[in-house]
Amino acid sequence: MTDGLVARISGPVVVARNMKGSRMYDVVRVGDDELNGEIIRLDGDEAVVQVYEDTEGLTVGEKVATTGVPLSVELGPGLLSSIYDGIQRPLPALQELSGSYISRGITVPGLDRSRQWEFTPAVRKGDAVGPGDILGTVQEYHIEHRIMVPPAHAGVVQHIHDGSCLVEDTVCELDGGAEITLMQRWPVRKNRPYVKKLDPTLPLLTGQRVFDTMFPLVKGGTAMIPGGFGTGKTVSEQTLAKWSDTQIVVYIGCGERGNEMTDVLTEFPELVDPRTEKPLIHRTIMIANTSNMPVAAREASIYTGITIGEYFRDMGYDVSLMADSTSRWGEALREVSGRLEEMPGEEGYPAYLAARLAAFYERAGRVICLGSDARTGSVTVVGAVSPPGGDFSEPITQNTLRIAGTFWALDTSLANRRHFPAINWIKSYSLYLDMVHEWFAENVAQDWEELRGRTMYLLQKEVELQEIVQLVGPDALPEHEKAILEITRMIREDFLQQSAYDPVDSFCPLERQYWMLKVILFFYDAIVDAMEQGVPLKQILDLPLKTRIARMKEIEDVAEIEGIVAEIATGINEIGGGR
Ligand SMILES: Nc1ncnc2c1ncn2[C@@H]1O[C@H](COP(=O)(O)OP(=O)(O)OP(=O)(O)O)[C@@H](O)[C@H]1O
Ligand SMILES: [Mg+2]
Repeated sequence: MTDGLVARISGPVVVARNMKGSRMYDVVRVGDDELNGEIIRLDGDEAVVQVYEDTEGLTVGEKVATTGVPLSVELGPGLLSSIYDGIQRPLPALQELSGSYISRGITVPGLDRSRQWEFTPAVRKGDAVGPGDILGTVQEYHIEHRIMVPPAHAGVVQHIHDGSCLVEDTVCELDGGAEITLMQRWPVRKNRPYVKKLDPTLPLLTGQRVFDTMFPLVKGGTAMIPGGFGTGKTVSEQTLAKWSDTQIVVYIGCGERGNEMTDVLTEFPELVDPRTEKPLIHRTIMIANTSNMPVAAREASIYTGITIGEYFRDMGYDVSLMADSTSRWGEALREVSGRLEEMPGEEGYPAYLAARLAAFYERAGRVICLGSDARTGSVTVVGAVSPPGGDFSEPITQNTLRIAGTFWALDTSLANRRHFPAINWIKSYSLYLDMVHEWFAENVAQDWEELRGRTMYLLQKEVELQEIVQLVGPDALPEHEKAILEITRMIREDFLQQSAYDPVDSFCPLERQYWMLKVILFFYDAIVDAMEQGVPLKQILDLPLKTRIARMKEIEDVAEIEGIVAEIATGINEIGGGR
């Protein structure tokens, strides 16, 4: 251990002297209060330290001690349903120790040292094991927590534990003397290894029509949700955290307002997973680094989050990771870079912003995990972006655009019109469409791709027609184009709009999504047919069918929605428009 001294302090950045022998990214304790920090630059015997706690009151000459270990997270039983700060300190424990204003220099381990877990072995004495092999399991709520051989270990099992133990207890001894404990540590800035990345061909289902049907995301993919103030970034991230069909969710509240995070923390424990009927919190890990918490810990929070995500991926699970908001993370990067007096790049962000963003999103993926059983797992990353003034030309939005596979563009004018989710269907896109259409054809309907394609075509056509309407008024349009406007209004209002708060509609299974859209497009085809036979559009629209379709959102039973197709056929037949 070295005995460094504080030489300079600039907000969260501290320069320490006499630090020879310390390493990049080592964790240090700064000052008499032993504030937690991390070495981010080394120059001779000088170390630049990013401090994760408020440096107010710190003075030049106070001591700095390295711990000799890089910033790491603890991985093991007890992670699920935990709420951490950016450096994996459990918030409830911090609050217990110091009240709601967290005092400085507190170190609380990420995993509870005193909790007993029941370990069920999966290997026997004499078995040869290697990196990623499952040594045994611990039941954590409804999730089987798989205890794996850490990436650097291999050998023959000399002893395997059976029964209750603590996270620090050895559960397996290998020949050569390696002792594997129930928990492992991993440096947050280092990707956890896997065997191979796979093509992302499985959709990540969210129960949200505009996402699943229009701009699908995949397991192991990346998505960005950029949006101006109050357009629905947080609601979208929370909706995805609730309804994504992944076994594990990591939710990172990064630099957002404290009250937004409080909403998540109070609401989540009450929610039930519609697929497993288990409390959603039991499969969730929360990381909260709100705007009133130290800025540097915000920078660390996304690494803490994704490392935890990778750990569950390695067990063979699908994980979704929500980061709200990556802009606040970028601002933390900018602040620290400014204090380091680095050459600023675009809008004051450091020149390495793009590389850092790419390195973070690069950790998403669907992989063959380490371990001899060839299991697969995935981490999907959804990052919210809050461009100042909703202007998408700023650096964080632009750099993320180059990386993310799905672009869900929130739109201020839609939010103002209370069209929610305020996803702009013209600007948004998914690069995964070609990879998932086969899955949809097999699992939902053969004509899924066609249905989606026709919907997009009509919505694009609507933009053209609206321009004409603005110039010459709606009456100038021929009947068949008026019919298109009528249908696109239905697509927008009765399909794309979906309230996150509606008890029936907040989660929409794929089959229901399909039939809702099918009904609307069937209605369109029926209108076209009927008009060809001379039935005026107005007469068709006067039928009660329009209101029936508008009410689909209230209908949970897919068979009933499917039945509307027959009602449309009958209704139109009665006015002489049937075939
Ligand atoms: N899917 C939705 N269903 C219903 N209402 C929604 C939906 N999305 C957003 N809203 C409405 O918009 C409001 C603002 O959304 P939200 O807080 O998510 O915005 P934000 O983009 O995170 O804002 P900020 O920039 O302040 O972080 C919500 O309180 C809610 O009333
Ligand atoms: Mg928000």
